[in-house]
Amino acid sequence: MIIRHETPQDYFATEHICRDAFWNLYFPGAHEHYVLHRMRKHKDFLPELSFVLEIDGQIAGGIFFTRSRIIPRSADAKPVPAVSFGPVFIAPEYHRRGLGRMLISHAIEKAKQAGHKAILTLGYPYHYSPYGFTGGKKYGISMADGKFYQGLLALPLQEHALDGISGYVQFSDVFDINPQEAEEYDKKFPPKEKLVLPCQAEYEKACTLLDETRY
Ligand SMILES: CC(C)(COP(=O)(O)OP(=O)(O)OC[C@H]1O[C@@H](n2cnc3c(N)ncnc32)[C@H](O)[C@@H]1OP(=O)(O)O)[C@@H](O)C(=O)NCCC(=O)NCCS
Repeated sequence: MIIRHETPQDYFATEHICRDAFWNLYFPGAHEHYVLHRMRKHKDFLPELSFVLEIDGQIAGGIFFTRSRIIPRSADAKPVPAVSFGPVFIAPEYHRRGLGRMLISHAIEKAKQAGHKAILTLGYPYHYSPYGFTGGKKYGISMADGKFYQGLLALPLQEHALDGISGYVQFSDVFDINPQEAEEYDKKFPPKEKLVLPCQAEYEKACTLLDETRY
């Protein structure tokens, strides 16, 4: 197993695995491979923090980072730079064998070494609490609508890096995709069946859950 930077020769294989990992997870089909395709050329992309995981010479996962920032609620304070990951994925046949943990831990360590202050991401808390992520609420960080959702997760990379910050997160606009363009891009890949699955309803519900934790 090797964790390394992606090269242009890997692009199709990485996107293929990304598509498989997210397929039918949030809705019938997936758009993450299209996001990834756009991300590599985007000004917010952080190639030095983005990695693929290779097993026996084949891509089996990836993690991709972009710049994000916290916009303080007080008008005279400056935006606080942060970094964010997503998509992160492991090929479905390798799930729950510790590979995601290795990949995510590796990237977190590199982000820390590079001097970044904090990581903000969206996801299920059970995926990221093992790395020390908590709700953004702990640091007064909300989504743009001012609400503290369970799915907004924060990890300071330096001591006190997020202390005293109160604001909302602004992720890269690379995630603002046109769904029709994503569907068109998907035609580059072999046809795959779109299904309505219970995990999609779970995701819809999870997106609205507020963080009620008293930190
Ligand atoms: C999320 C993902 C990258 C995790 O990769 P993985 O290799 O399966 O994860 P690991 O085996 O390293 O698990 C690490 C820990 O994360 C947590 N975890 C991972 N998947 C979980 C799941 N389905 N349910 C609950 N906890 C989970 C557990 O704490 C796990 O440790 P444990 O197995 O000792 O209990 C992988 O499941 C994936 O690609 N999923 C589809 C895409 C996706 O959901 N990406 C994240 C978007 S937010």
